[in-house]
Amino acid sequence: MITETLHHDIVIVGAGVAGAWAAIEAYDAGIRNVAVVSKVHPLRSHSTAAQGGIAAPIGNVRVPPGGNAQTPLVPAATDGSADSPEKMVLDTIKSGDWLSDQDAVEILAFEAADTLFAYERMGTTFDRLPDGRIAQRRFAGHSAPRAAYAADRTGHALLITLYDQLLRRGITIYEEHYVVDLIWEDHTAAGLVVYNIADGTLRALASPTVVLATGGFAGIFAINSNALINTGDGPGLVYRSGLPLMDMEFVQFHPTGLYGHGVLISEACRAEGGYLRNAAGERFMVNYAPSAMELAPRDIVSRAEQAELDLGHGHGPDKQGLWLDLTHLGAHIIETRLPDIAEISRRLAGVDPLTQMVPIQPTAHYTMGGIPTDVNGQVLNERGEPALGLFAAGECACVSVHGANRLGANSLMEASVFGRRAGRSAARRASEIGIFAPSTTLFNQTLGAARERIQSRFYSDSKDGHHSAFALIAKLKNIMTTTCGILRNESSLAHGNAEMAALVNALPHIRVFDTSCIHNLELVRTFEAENMALVAEATLVSARARTESRGAHSRVDYPERSDKEWMKHLLVRRTPDGPAYTSRQVNIDLAKYPPIARKY
Ligand code: FUM
Repeated sequence: MITETLHHDIVIVGAGVAGAWAAIEAYDAGIRNVAVVSKVHPLRSHSTAAQGGIAAPIGNVRVPPGGNAQTPLVPAATDGSADSPEKMVLDTIKSGDWLSDQDAVEILAFEAADTLFAYERMGTTFDRLPDGRIAQRRFAGHSAPRAAYAADRTGHALLITLYDQLLRRGITIYEEHYVVDLIWEDHTAAGLVVYNIADGTLRALASPTVVLATGGFAGIFAINSNALINTGDGPGLVYRSGLPLMDMEFVQFHPTGLYGHGVLISEACRAEGGYLRNAAGERFMVNYAPSAMELAPRDIVSRAEQAELDLGHGHGPDKQGLWLDLTHLGAHIIETRLPDIAEISRRLAGVDPLTQMVPIQPTAHYTMGGIPTDVNGQVLNERGEPALGLFAAGECACVSVHGANRLGANSLMEASVFGRRAGRSAARRASEIGIFAPSTTLFNQTLGAARERIQSRFYSDSKDGHHSAFALIAKLKNIMTTTCGILRNESSLAHGNAEMAALVNALPHIRVFDTSCIHNLELVRTFEAENMALVAEATLVSARARTESRGAHSRVDYPERSDKEWMKHLLVRRTPDGPAYTSRQVNIDLAKYPPIARKY
């Protein structure tokens, strides 16, 4: 296996919205030797799959007087008074069930407009109002129509814009490179080891700053809306380094995944007026959120769906299906604002949403927890001190804006705002460090260790055990779905923890049957299986430890939110003696944002 060492001032892992923004901001702050590493082509990053919108309180549209959730929106006054950052802060804290950090939420809401207009200046093809302003739509849990959108392909439009900007600046992109390890020198990040999937080379990328923007890990569940690439690589690298992960028990289940597939059917469908129905055709949300109905926050709607399914009100051979009814919206709205949903329904489910209901079920969609950071993207250890040189942003990070339950359309904005901030902080650190001269021996040793780690995986008769990565991943997803789904309890979680511990113990015995170094996707899947198992372990142990229900974490044995005991972030890290926990107070002024019961 050929090895080499290359030098950069900043290396960013992940080329989705957060990673691309970090690279652009770092470059524009004057750091020219920036590199982006992505295990796929940047335009295949999972941000491209975000559909319905990106939240910004610019108030371009409003509900007409006397209107309700179904009334068509109208253009608002051009002074932006129809919405405000303050309202966005309140909505986000309420939806996050008082686990969001106020400073992070305020930054999100107050920097959102500037970021949206930055996209506009770069040429993003947003849908428009007749007067040319950016159009906005309703989104669940937002008290004003706040989601700017490009039909139902918003993430795709944003990612194309950002990729264009990476190319324009000539930023180095290591495409199809998989990160095998972080390199540390004296507890400070010093770079990465990456495997070039296309040609089999192993490279050390020496850099005094590393930004992780690897996306989420809801792909650890059997039914999920995530791309295959969402395997928790960033959190896995951090957890393996002995650093903590935060709020891992909070996994968002999106109410409308395509039945049997989990593929996302955008919330924009309900925002445009779609209904949810059970097998008997009833709009069941009237029993769970009579005011907001289908536009209640996702944790509430997916729990309502689970309740309907548990009552036997589902359809399909396994009775796990419900219906999304768009038939009353008419062809114009469906074909112009939801064209991808129409195509997904026709091609994957064989139904025409103009005349037939779309079969759906809840799908694991988004991970609120992840790598703890401050508001500048600096990764924090269990004592809240910086892990020098290491930054994170986007879904892999936990800053924490979303708290216990994210609002739809907030993730694209969060990835953008905090990706930008992480890029600027990384640039500040890179300029402070100046010339980076780590020890050559360190890189040679790390490359040697990585090469050995790879070669030890290749199958030979003389080695004991031969688990396949593919089989272990299938088992892992089954454990997560059956023990740590929308509803959890002590007995399901105890079982899940024991099963996952056994699976983690089996990881060293995975063997790779394809022994070529070139384009060895079985090898990549083996690395991914390790990260998936570690984030699954962290999710299960955290879910078991938090004995209350808050946001997306629903314990049937502890059904109430317990602010006295649990209004705090839970951090978990690996130690030789097993998982160790610490907690951190939520940063919130309760006089300003008094906790209330969430009624919708
Ligand atoms: O439903 C959606 O379009 C998803 C949006 C989001 O997760 O923010």
